[in-house]
Amino acid sequence: MTQTNAVSRRGVIAGGAAGLATAAAGPIAHAQSPGTSPGAPMSAPPTETVSLTINGKAETLTLDTRVTLLDALREHLKLTGSKKGCDHGQCGACTVLVNGRRINSCLTLAVMHEGDKVTTIEGLGSPEQLHPMQAAFVKHDGYQCGYCTPGQICSAVAVLDEIGAGIPSHVTDDLTGEAKFSEMEVRERMSGNICRCGAYSNIFEAIQEVAGEQA
Ligand code: FES
Ligand code: FES
Repeated sequence: MTQTNAVSRRGVIAGGAAGLATAAAGPIAHAQSPGTSPGAPMSAPPTETVSLTINGKAETLTLDTRVTLLDALREHLKLTGSKKGCDHGQCGACTVLVNGRRINSCLTLAVMHEGDKVTTIEGLGSPEQLHPMQAAFVKHDGYQCGYCTPGQICSAVAVLDEIGAGIPSHVTDDLTGEAKFSEMEVRERMSGNICRCGAYSNIFEAIQEVAGEQA
């Protein structure tokens, strides 16, 4: 065999290793930002300062602009009452009140809430002085594991405000055609809050009791 045609085992192994190294480096090279060389330090994520009122207390936070309101509450302010169930707007465990309206705090960025008033379960009442809805949940056993409960209670408070404020009801009286407070109505409005323990009937009893007190 001549030198030109000779393919030594050492050559194949060296060539193959180089090819593998190139192939392995490919995706990594693609992952680099255009214009940056491999190994260059990544630039810091953009941050913004936001001032808002949480449970009556003024807070100013400098946050990565991608931080959700839920993570700002839990990770930055250590208000862990609001729970992260799905992180996708599907379970309601993260429900808080923003300017009196309920929202899923996992679906909104904290920096979008400049000047807003946020109320979490910690701000509704205290262990010494429970909010009527908190007391009713305790009285009616409106929970088992309790994971969904802060979101359920925040949502329930907002539901009664919505009904009281005359926000259009989905359920109307058969005779008069007027909107009415009914189990169906409350269940419909609470349907964004999932309880894996299935404490729904007790939750309804708690809401019904508070609604009766407010009537
Ligand atoms: Fe926000 Fe589930 S954690 S809706
Ligand atoms: Fe367990 Fe609702 S009490 S998920």
